[in-house]
Amino acid sequence: MNQLARFLLLLALLISTKTRVVAALRDPLDRPNFVLFFVDDLGYGDLGFTGHPTTSTPNIDRLAWNGKTLTTWYSGCALCSCSRAALMTGRQYPRTGIRQVLGTVDDLGLPLEEVTIAEQLKKVNYTTGIVGKWHLGQRLAYLPGNQGFDYYLGIPYSDDMGNGKQTSCPGNKAEDPTEPVQEHLKGKPIPPPDGDYAAWYLPLLYQEHNKTRIIEQPLDLTKLAQKYNRFATKFIEDNKDEPFFLYFPFNHVHTTSGNNDKWDTMPNRQFASCELKNRTKRGAFGDALAEVDWMIGNVYETLQRLGLEENTMILWTSDNGPATPRRFDAGSYGIFSGEYAGYPWTGKASTWEGGIRMPAFAHWKGQIQPFSRSSQTISSMDVFPTFSHLAGVPLPSGIVLDGRDMADILLQENGQSRHDFLFFYGFCNGHWPRTGVTAVRHGPYKAHFCTSPGLGAGHESMTVHYNKYPLLFNVEEDPSETFPICDGNTLPENDPDARAAIERILRAYAMEKATFEYGKIPPLPPGPGEGKGHYGVCCNRSTNCSCESLWDDNFQSRLFTVGSEEHHARYHEYLGEENHMKRAT
Ligand SMILES: *[C@@H]1O[C@H](CO)[C@@H](O)[C@H](O)[C@H]1NC(C)=O
Ligand SMILES: *[C@@H]1O[C@H](CO)[C@@H](O)[C@H](O)[C@H]1NC(C)=O
Ligand SMILES: *[C@@H]1O[C@H](CO)[C@@H](O)[C@H](O)[C@H]1NC(C)=O
Ligand SMILES: *[C@@H]1O[C@H](CO)[C@@H](O)[C@H](O)[C@H]1NC(C)=O
Ligand SMILES: *[C@@H]1O[C@H](CO)[C@@H](O)[C@H](O)[C@H]1NC(C)=O
Repeated sequence: MNQLARFLLLLALLISTKTRVVAALRDPLDRPNFVLFFVDDLGYGDLGFTGHPTTSTPNIDRLAWNGKTLTTWYSGCALCSCSRAALMTGRQYPRTGIRQVLGTVDDLGLPLEEVTIAEQLKKVNYTTGIVGKWHLGQRLAYLPGNQGFDYYLGIPYSDDMGNGKQTSCPGNKAEDPTEPVQEHLKGKPIPPPDGDYAAWYLPLLYQEHNKTRIIEQPLDLTKLAQKYNRFATKFIEDNKDEPFFLYFPFNHVHTTSGNNDKWDTMPNRQFASCELKNRTKRGAFGDALAEVDWMIGNVYETLQRLGLEENTMILWTSDNGPATPRRFDAGSYGIFSGEYAGYPWTGKASTWEGGIRMPAFAHWKGQIQPFSRSSQTISSMDVFPTFSHLAGVPLPSGIVLDGRDMADILLQENGQSRHDFLFFYGFCNGHWPRTGVTAVRHGPYKAHFCTSPGLGAGHESMTVHYNKYPLLFNVEEDPSETFPICDGNTLPENDPDARAAIERILRAYAMEKATFEYGKIPPLPPGPGEGKGHYGVCCNRSTNCSCESLWDDNFQSRLFTVGSEEHHARYHEYLGEENHMKRAT
C-alpha cells in the first residue's frame, strides 16, 4: 500500500466508529482470523448456490457469491470421524489410525501425537474455539481441550448416537423456553447392549482451557442452535482484537436416531428450533438446513458488527456426502450421482463423487474476489497447510502431510492445484475398518480401483475390484460418472490422452501402495474414573447418565462469558481448582 493510500485509510478509520478502528488497524494479512464451517452429511446439491430449487440457505448463498465458489473440493474421507481426522491434521486419515466412525464408548481417539490445525495456530498465539461435533474421541484426553482448542461447546459425536430431548412446539410457535417438554423421553430406558448408559443420552459438553463440564445430558436438540449461536458470538466478541480460529462443525444436518429402531424416538429424524420447524418447503431436512443457515448468518453478522470482515477468512464445506438410505431425511448429492454404479447408494461412505465431492466456498472481504469460481482440485486436507501459510507457521517437520497449500487458488485469479494425484481412501468389501486406496483424481480424470455402495453397504456382491486397469471417468465432462472411458478391462483405443493418463495413474497407484504407512492408535492409559465400560461421557452413573441441565441464566452469566481473565478465575473457582491461570499451550 502506498503512502497516500495509507493516509486515506487512517483518515477513514479515524472518522469511523471505535470498534472498527481497533479491528481494521490490524493488517488483514497478518495472522488473519479463520472461521471454518463444516456441515455434517450435507451433499453437493443441497444449497441454493449449487442449484437446489427449494432449499432455504440465503446466508450461505450470499457468502458463497461474495466469495469464491470451489467446485472441485474433496473431503478427506466419506465418513464422519475419518473426514475430521484428515481435516484436522492435513493427512490421509489412515495415517492417523482413525479408520472408522468412532462410537460413544470407544477407548480410541485421534492420537495425541498428531498435530491439529488448532495446535498449529496456537504456535502463533491464536485463540482457538470449536462449537459442534468433534467426533475424534470422547474420552477426556481426546476432547478438543487437549487437542489445541481453548474453548469447546458441543456434542462430542453424531447426533444419532444417543437420545436427545425435543421440546414440543405447540402451534408450531416459539414457546416459553423455561418449560422444556420431554415428550420423546417418556419410554423407559432399555439397558444399552454394552451395559454402559453413557451411550444412552446425548451429552452437551463445555470445555475451557481443558477443563470439562457436562452441561446437559440428555441435551435439548430444539435449543441447541441457540446455544451454539451464543457461544460463537461470545467467542468472536471476546477475541476480536487478537487472531482467532473458530471451527464450527455443525451437528446438523446429520439424521438423528435411525440406525437402530429402539433409538428411533425422534420424528422425521431431523431437528430444528421451534422458530424453524415446519418452515421450509423441504420438510424436516430443509428446516435443519435453514437452522445451519441461521447460525452462519449470526456469525457473519457478528463479524460485520465488529468490523472484522477484512481480517477474517471464512471457509465453508461439508464432511461427506448425504446418507442416501435415509431418504427424505438426508441430503442430495445433486449432479454427482454415480450413474454407472447402477445403485442409489453413491453418497456417504462411498468414493463415488457423491460421497466425497463437497459443496465449498471461501470468503474474505478485500482478499478473495467476489463472484468468482475455481474448479481446481482441492482437498479438505489442504486446510491445514493453507491456514499454516496464511498464519505464518512453519509446517511440522518429520511427518507426511498429504494436504497442499491452496492459498494461490483462493487469493489469485488463476491459482493452480498442487495435487497431481489426489488419492481417496475408502471402504470396499463392506468392512469399514478395512480401508485402502479406492480411487484417485488426476487432472480431469477420476480412476476407481474398487467400487462399492456407501451406506446400505455390506453388499459384498456389489463390490467390484478393478485389477487390470482402473475404471476411468473424465469427471470434468461427465461429473455424474455415467460414461466410463475405460471399463477396467480394455484400454480406450482412440484416446491417447486417456491411455497416457492411465499409465501415469497406475505408476502413481503402485507407488502410493508401496510407500503408504498405516498409522496405529497408541493405547492411552485410563484416566481418572475411566476403564473398561467407563469410557463414555456420563454426568452421573447413579442416575443412568441423566442429569438436570446446567444451562440456565446463572450458567450463562457466571460461566459463559468466554475469554476474560475475570471470567476465567470465576470458572475455575466454580470448579474448585487452585491453579486457575495455568493455561494449556
Ligand atoms: C506469542 O506470544 C509469546 C508470549 O507472549 C511471544 O513471545 C511471541 O512473540 C508471540 N508470537 C507471535 C507470533 O505474536
Ligand atoms: C487435559 O486434560 C486431560 C484429562 O484430564 C489430561 O489428560 C491432559 O493431560 C490435559 N492436557 C493439558 C495440556 O493440560
Ligand atoms: C406444518 O405447518 C402447516 C401449515 O402451517 C400445518 O398445517 C401443519 O400441521 C404443520 N405440521 C407440523 C408437523 O407441525
Ligand atoms: C448423582 O446422583 C445421585 C442420585 O441422584 C446423587 O445423590 C449424587 O449427589 C449425584 N452425584 C453428583 C456428583 O452429582
Ligand atoms: C437405571 O437403569 C436400570 C436398568 O435399566 C434401572 O433398574 C434403574 O432403576 C435405573 N436407575 C435410575 C436412577 O433411573
